[in-house]
Amino acid sequence: MNDKISELQQKKNKALEGGGLKRIDSQHKKGKLTARERIHFLLDENTFEEVGMLVTHRATDFGLEHEVYLGDGVVTGYGKIDGRLVYIFSQDFTVFGGSLSETHAEKICKIMDLAMKNGAPLIGLNDSGGARIQEGVVSLGGYADIFYRNTLASGVVPQISAIMGPCAGGAVYSPAITDFIMMVEHTSYMFVTGPNVVKTVTHEEVSSEELGGAGTHASKSGVTHFTYATELDCLRGIRQLITYIPQNCEDDPLAFRYSASDELRPALNQIIPENPNQPYDMREVIEQIVDEGSFFEVHKAYAENILVGFSRIAGRSIGIVANQPAVLAGVLDIKSSGKAARFVRFCDSFNIPLLVLEDVPGFMPGTDQEWNGIINNGAKLLYAFCEATVPRVTVITRKAYGGAYDVMNSKHIGCDMNFAWPSAEIAVMGSKGAAEIIFKKEIAEAKDQEKMLQAKINEYTETFANPYKAAARGFIDEVIVPDQTRIKLIRAFDMLKNKVSYMPRKKHGNIPL
Ligand code: HXC
Repeated sequence: MNDKISELQQKKNKALEGGGLKRIDSQHKKGKLTARERIHFLLDENTFEEVGMLVTHRATDFGLEHEVYLGDGVVTGYGKIDGRLVYIFSQDFTVFGGSLSETHAEKICKIMDLAMKNGAPLIGLNDSGGARIQEGVVSLGGYADIFYRNTLASGVVPQISAIMGPCAGGAVYSPAITDFIMMVEHTSYMFVTGPNVVKTVTHEEVSSEELGGAGTHASKSGVTHFTYATELDCLRGIRQLITYIPQNCEDDPLAFRYSASDELRPALNQIIPENPNQPYDMREVIEQIVDEGSFFEVHKAYAENILVGFSRIAGRSIGIVANQPAVLAGVLDIKSSGKAARFVRFCDSFNIPLLVLEDVPGFMPGTDQEWNGIINNGAKLLYAFCEATVPRVTVITRKAYGGAYDVMNSKHIGCDMNFAWPSAEIAVMGSKGAAEIIFKKEIAEAKDQEKMLQAKINEYTETFANPYKAAARGFIDEVIVPDQTRIKLIRAFDMLKNKVSYMPRKKHGNIPL
């Protein structure tokens, strides 16, 4: 028996070496950790259980039968984060550049199936040269098997992808289907076609970093939700994200201990400037109303005119969608609508209540927006809110104009509790634009046109630029003094915590993609 145990031990030791010490050194020299080191730093100590350590590829072309590594370039298994179960795969760049073979894909699929059956998040640490070139179509089939499972798992268990090296070609579509992508600055990149192909086809000269690095995807494409300076920061980011989300769609997020203290926030009474066109930073509002230090922003550098992120109120997770008056006056445009819609749908899939903070002058005008589909894209956000069945609360801090009033979680589309500050302006459009249209004739005929315009602006402002017409109709449940906002939200979300609401029976809706 001792011989057999030692044979097993030898095999395990061999598997732990991956592609060998030389390649591990080269990985470290690039500033990257190995697949196993990443798992070690991500999971709670001593909780990782590996599945499929002794799997090997079965390819024979191009002499591959002589180059066999135990585990075949991906470490898969399960473990714990803060005591909660997660499933994980971590691609090993030291074995054939982490490339995806038939068996490598089978290992990932096995873990995905377990994650779905047992209802726990799936975390993928991606570091791969793409399809294993020597294997041809079986490798492509392996990718498709993964994409299929990513789609089946969507909305069942949370899926998080960290990109910690190359992720190119069709391989990008697995992370793209998952809920969140994280990238590491300077050592990771994602693109469908690399710089060489780009140069041949479009004659553009562009580096990998510029084309598909973390900075590019954080700010230009919005493909990545988070970027981190180092791999360790990225792994810490995954742990942090996990604290806000439930294990699966039937579960609720963790509730943290909360003890009530003085919840009045006097600073909020001073936040809205006297001049209604002057910007202020909605992050300051968020910081005042959520549990201290709990705002975890998603998509921070992309479409900055809207803020989205997780937070906690009285220890419970919420998702926040907030117009940001400090950027483009908080206007809704194509990018911000898509960003917010995706976030709303994640929260709704995973039972995370939604809070909307609203200060929106409307949708962005212009040919660029119209020709690129602001109609379609704005509809994404509208649709996402309409079908959300989680507890929903809105606070209008200032502007709520036009269609954007409807879209931003209004009472009419299913919001449960709608609050407004006394500074709220709820109207079809801004006073100046409105006065110019409806009093066009009076203004044109007036002796002093400027004076008449101003008088009509004032009249419109007094009539509509307030929350009271909406409150009189019950579209606003309560007009609140800003310093009471946190108290009102704690009570509202507590009141809504057992909300039950279903969509009409259907196969699935048809969100305007
Ligand atoms: C097999 C691969 C591989 C691959 C890398 N290797 N990519 N083996 N299939 N796709 C091997 C190398 O031979 C090398 O082996 C080791 O991994 C490390 O690679 P290097 O080139 O030395 O590393 P580096 O200089 O860091 O460059 C990394 C790289 C480059 C940029 C990823 O290797 C590269 O361009 N690889 C090919 C990428 C690619 O075209 N993939 C197919 C894309 S199409 P040794 O033995 O020397 O250590 C695709 C379709 C998916 O993926 C479709 C899904 C729908």
